[in-house]
Amino acid sequence: MTPNKILVVFYSRSGTTRKVASVLARMLGADVEEIVDRGARGGPFGYVRSLVEAMHARPSQIAPPKHDASDYDLVVIGSPVWSGTVSSPVRAYLYANFERLNRVAFFCCFARRGGESALKEMNALCGAAPLAECCVTAREARHGDASRVLSDFVERIERKLAEIQQLGANQRELT
Ligand SMILES: Cc1cc2nc3c(=O)[nH]c(=O)nc-3n(C[C@H](O)[C@H](O)[C@H](O)COP(=O)(O)O)c2cc1C
Repeated sequence: MTPNKILVVFYSRSGTTRKVASVLARMLGADVEEIVDRGARGGPFGYVRSLVEAMHARPSQIAPPKHDASDYDLVVIGSPVWSGTVSSPVRAYLYANFERLNRVAFFCCFARRGGESALKEMNALCGAAPLAECCVTAREARHGDASRVLSDFVERIERKLAEIQQLGANQRELT
């Protein structure tokens, strides 16, 4: 069977989602796309700006992506949780690219709460059910305690992709 082409797309303001994305990309043998946000996000002003955008479900201004998502069998999308929802740069990416996504999986990084609602919002923005989802706390990511969660996530993705490939092979045999 031909290997699946996988892209990991993420935005990270303070490094946690970047760290998780790079572990996942290594585990999945995936290409990586970091969403580049055009606005300033540092310091207290950047924090408040991020919070207000998330609270109003407002997408931010982002640079055009380097990879064409439609070239990939699966796009794994990661976002920090902002105000219980998806970050504004990931919202902008999903607004611009949802039609280019063949299959998706989602992950999010958060401090304490809002992971489930952020994943739900990502699902709604894509208009497609993900093959798998997971949430990682910043603490788990920082202390290297996320390995179990991430290997379960990767296992679910690989199992679903194998099932889809098998289904395709069976259908080709019938025609
Ligand atoms: C504007 C803003 C809002 C946040 N809102 C939440 C929240 O609602 N729930 C939560 O658990 N963490 C929240 N956080 C914490 C981040 O989700 C968490 O630190 C995450 O790991 C950051 O990922 P990053 O380092 O990739 O940017 C918020 C952080 C920011 C900057």
